[in-house]
Amino acid sequence: MTHRIVTLPGDGIGPEIVAPAVELLKRLGDFEFDERVFGGASIDASGTALTDEVLDACRGADAVLLGAVGGPKWDTTDPHAPRPEQGLLGLRKGLGLYANLRPVKPIPALYDASPLRRERIEGTDLLVVRELTGGIYFGEKQRTAERASDLCEYTVEEIERIARVGFGAARSRVSSVDKANVLETSRLWRETVMRVHSEEFPHVELEHVLVDNAAMQLVSSPRHFDVILTENLFGDILSDEAAMLTGSIGMLPSASLGERGGPGLFEPVHGSAPDIAGQGIANPLATFLSAALLLRHGLALETEAAAVESAVQRALDGGLRTADLGGEAGTAQATRAVLDNLE
Ligand code: NAD
Ligand code: IPM
Ligand code: MN
Repeated sequence: MTHRIVTLPGDGIGPEIVAPAVELLKRLGDFEFDERVFGGASIDASGTALTDEVLDACRGADAVLLGAVGGPKWDTTDPHAPRPEQGLLGLRKGLGLYANLRPVKPIPALYDASPLRRERIEGTDLLVVRELTGGIYFGEKQRTAERASDLCEYTVEEIERIARVGFGAARSRVSSVDKANVLETSRLWRETVMRVHSEEFPHVELEHVLVDNAAMQLVSSPRHFDVILTENLFGDILSDEAAMLTGSIGMLPSASLGERGGPGLFEPVHGSAPDIAGQGIANPLATFLSAALLLRHGLALETEAAAVESAVQRALDGGLRTADLGGEAGTAQATRAVLDNLE
């Protein structure tokens, strides 16, 4: 069976990391790739970051692989100007991708590449389950010359469905992260998570951690965490912080999933890295690991997913280090190292 994958290289280093990931996937099966213009590139081509045509193509695919969007060319504080990031938010919303999974499992070969001490990070294996289509990202925005506001809203239904994903993924414990000491949305979050827990997942341990404390514990005792279940904005911030446990933001993959049946979206957690774009030095491993998640969660190809993860691990064991990990390998060299280790 041919699987249809829409690729959205996007901006900055996006095209530089998606092309090698496509090369990798081609080694693993019979895939049909449909590359589409997205983000800033799409603003340049048609005035909008996500066209209806591209959204339809994504809807009709088996999975979507994305690089990154954004960059200084489209950075503006004008509320009426189109932004590349609107394309990403529109895609997540348009595909109903409310569950964002960001696994953080430092690879032993990289323990010493992290700014944190090895003893701190050894054995860390956590999953950030981030709510992706609600909260302050999608509430009403207002702006006058003198005032601006972003509404943060959550419904019980939105919290219930992401809580089920979090509890379902837990091996031992769910740490639900909120700001219930201040925010009304967090109080509804906590109440709803507690109810889903007691009614459906009483065997899983549940704790509630305030987000500021969670940010601290992520670096002081990351091994403590199994599943971190949290809302959209907190999950965005905590996952970049957690990325440093793996050595670099260039290592962290993600899967965004919706209701069963629709295509998932798979992308590295990092952005378009305008500071290094065009230099051939971007780390492609987060995108390779996102391709592994695409194989596993998007296409149910577990053997192929594991093969990608092992190849990445073996390449790192063999000494592969890109610049962000303190080494000298460029994107092409890193790609070759992983392809050479693919069994
Ligand atoms: P960024 O993640 O793009 O970069 C942060 C730092 O990490 C930079 O120094 C960059 O060089 C480095 N970095 C990131 N990915 C790397 C990789 N694969 N290899 C080596 N180094 C890497 O964050 P930013 O600079 O805050 O954002 C730049 C643009 O990207 C903004 O327009 C932002 O909106 C956008 N962005 C997009 C996504 C996405 O498309 N999913 C995610 C985050 C940010
Ligand atoms: C991410 C990014 C996006 C987000 C931006 C680019 C809209 O930072 O995927 O983590 O905030 O969700
Ligand atoms: Mn982010």
